[in-house]
Amino acid sequence: MNRRYRKTIIAGNWKMNKTATETKKFAEELKVILPKAKWCDVVVCVPFVNIPAALRAFKDMRVAIGAENVFYEKSGAYTGEVSADMLKDLGVKYVIIGHSERRQYFGETDVIVNKKVQAVLEAGMHPIICVGESLEQREMGVTMDLITLQIKSALAGIPAEKVRKCVIAYEPIWAIGTGKTATAEQANEVCNGIRTTIRHLYGARVARSVTIQYGGSMNPKNAEELLAQPDVDGGLIGGAALKPDQFVEIINAANQE
Ligand code: PGA
Repeated sequence: MNRRYRKTIIAGNWKMNKTATETKKFAEELKVILPKAKWCDVVVCVPFVNIPAALRAFKDMRVAIGAENVFYEKSGAYTGEVSADMLKDLGVKYVIIGHSERRQYFGETDVIVNKKVQAVLEAGMHPIICVGESLEQREMGVTMDLITLQIKSALAGIPAEKVRKCVIAYEPIWAIGTGKTATAEQANEVCNGIRTTIRHLYGARVARSVTIQYGGSMNPKNAEELLAQPDVDGGLIGGAALKPDQFVEIINAANQE
């Protein structure tokens, strides 16, 4: 973390979990244990259908609501899709883009990710752009090449003042939902590499202002060590964000003065 230059953001990614009723229950439980003063921003990204319930339930808690996906067209004949303006109008602040599960199961490419990033920024929200390598790619030694390509593609055509509004989440695919975490050094090395890529593209001032999260089996046990790394500015948390007590423990680890 480096709060002098950028925000620390702890974001939950609920994936396809919880009903609207369970969303309300989670918020009620969280409210009791959430620290009042927060040195980090807290975001909860929920399934589309739970967004209205989440906005109601988390009101007055200084917890921002995020979506887990978006379609890049503004409106039209795209049955089943949801636009950035629709999310913005509800009060959504963040949108996860290019999560590895969407890349793997729903065919999202770097080109699609770039279009979604543009749409989210245009609507005035913050994209949380996910990048990460598979185990095979790590073993082949191409991690940083791949991630540089993912970052360059995601940010193609985005001007510097909008890049400041982007959050990047480094999520090694082999660490997601597996209980295997990258070591703090591995996480920092890639987050630092991402910052270097942004520096080459946009200069040092923009690079130091961008929040870069780590994601992949972050939990109350490993959060403090990961967040102590200079280039790890928060977490994108799946499993541990589904339980209020675990989520709060991670927030507390990020909430050091
Ligand atoms: P995990 O998921 O914390 O359950 O590994 C992280 C993510 O996929 O964003």
